[in-house]
Amino acid sequence: MCWIFGYIGWENTQNKLINGLKNLEYRWYDSAWIFEISKDKNTYLAKAVWKVSNLANKVQENQNNYFAWIGHTRWATHGGVNENNCHPHFSSNERFFVVHNWIIENYIDLKNNLEKKWYNFYSETDSEVIAKLIEDNFEKDLLTTIKKITELLQWAYALAVIDKENPKTLIGAKVGSPLVVGIAKDGFYISSDPNTLRTICENFIPLQDNELVVLAENNYEIYSFDDKKQEKKLLEFENYDTNKWKWEYKHYMLKEIFEIPSVFENAIAWRINFQTKEITSNTLSELVKYDIKKIEIIASGTSYNAGLTASYWFEDLSNIPTSVYVSTEYKYKKKFIDDKTLYIFISQSGETADTLECLKIVNARWGLTFGIVNVVASSIAQLTKMWLYTHSWQEVWVASTKAFIGQLAVLLLISLKLGLKNGMDYGRYENIINHLAKLKQSLQESLNESVNIKIISEKYAKYENMFFLWRNYLFPIAGEWSLKLKEITYHHSEVYSAWELKHGPLSLIDKKFPSILINPQTFLYEKNISTLKEIQARNWKVIWVLTKWDKNENLYDDSIFISNQKWVLTPFLVATVLDLFAYYMADFLWREIDKPRNLAKSVTVE
Ligand code: M6R
Repeated sequence: MCWIFGYIGWENTQNKLINGLKNLEYRWYDSAWIFEISKDKNTYLAKAVWKVSNLANKVQENQNNYFAWIGHTRWATHGGVNENNCHPHFSSNERFFVVHNWIIENYIDLKNNLEKKWYNFYSETDSEVIAKLIEDNFEKDLLTTIKKITELLQWAYALAVIDKENPKTLIGAKVGSPLVVGIAKDGFYISSDPNTLRTICENFIPLQDNELVVLAENNYEIYSFDDKKQEKKLLEFENYDTNKWKWEYKHYMLKEIFEIPSVFENAIAWRINFQTKEITSNTLSELVKYDIKKIEIIASGTSYNAGLTASYWFEDLSNIPTSVYVSTEYKYKKKFIDDKTLYIFISQSGETADTLECLKIVNARWGLTFGIVNVVASSIAQLTKMWLYTHSWQEVWVASTKAFIGQLAVLLLISLKLGLKNGMDYGRYENIINHLAKLKQSLQESLNESVNIKIISEKYAKYENMFFLWRNYLFPIAGEWSLKLKEITYHHSEVYSAWELKHGPLSLIDKKFPSILINPQTFLYEKNISTLKEIQARNWKVIWVLTKWDKNENLYDDSIFISNQKWVLTPFLVATVLDLFAYYMADFLWREIDKPRNLAKSVTVE
């Protein structure tokens, strides 16, 4: 999960590149570098292990009139974290400089062949093979050669390459891994993430798989690998400044949690007419024309937990049997693709490699694919037959919070729309729509609980193990909270359906292992009180997430309150308060919350 940032143009500054790399810092990485070249072939290279700030300290401001810049943050896959393995990798004749994201799966064979031809390798990376291959296959010019070597590389990759003998062009190529071109007044950019271009470019163009871009002094050209010139529409960035209001919050994660009520509204407000109670989305009107008898949901991480929650809605409200798969497992399992199944792919980034690969397999077998994606024009949005954006604005930092709420909102809309088609009781439908109209307010009230949540989370921060218990709709929410806690506190937690404890995991429990039971007013409320008694009989600590005015409030060690809401809508509220709980616990433990160790925001390697 390395990331690429490059620029070709008239403004002679290193700051642009360093700032571009800083904008990619929301992902975990372990080294960074920049390479610069002037029109008269002077080059400058700086590498640093660890942070971009280390690189910035090393870089010398120089007056050499550099014209093309490429930079990179590396997330080590092949070879350890050291400057040798740091990009750019270069050919033996030191003419071709390459930056690469993702993995060349056949690199061992390629490397063996090149070694037989006496090429020496200085790094342990797969990426160095690309630079040597360009040298070995060079013919006519860089563009012709890159087209040629794409036939040899077993994907996937995003590349940016500079030829020292022709420093006025920078070439990018993409198969599987994201790469976008930015168009600005002062030149052209290339980046792994359109969001890094948002404040510096007027427009952007996402490259498709098997496409190349040639950035030159005054123009850019895009080609397919089979040499056809491509005409592309220029896309505009949404009018949203991600840095706005950050100063009010200690971390971006907290800022993003506090955006939850607005994100929820943004996902549903313009898709529901609350007067007529109609769901007005054209995409969903199109979707209900299909005869859908089964749903399969494919996603990873938080998006998987959103899918699991939605499976309860699809079965309960839409009356459609639903299975949910983690992308990594779906890819290699036997698949039964048919025309009566809807295949839903959920992804905040729209670029998660495991999910994207599954989508390509289902597309190749003509399955009806539907994307739920946050990042506009991302690969999953482009490759699904139908899609809805969650419109959660940019989610910058690793732990997904507001995007989860956006995903739930869109999934609920789909289940209601399909529900009406499948004979859902209209009174029930109307009642849920009426409650949805009030949900933003309930979310706001949940956030108002933050002071109480902070106090409780600090009290529990010393426990390195926890159980999260619930059943039915809220079971996946317990899973989501456990994931959040692992990511940002590095503490261990287990998720179980409350009654499942007695089938084994109960043996783990002692006084150092508190439980969080989620028990708002629902049809399972009384049953969960029995679980509480079982736990308290063994002297364990119990925190409850409860609906306000709970008559048994005094029974619990600590309580977190949510507003009274319809049972099917409680996942939104419980997820919000538990996000706050994880956040405050991590903050109390002094964790690097926005950049948790070893993790990347968008997982673009398999
Ligand atoms: O971009 P995606 O939604 O496809 O990402 C999937 C997971 O990598 C992601 O949800 C991950 O689990 C988050 N860091 C969770 O906070």
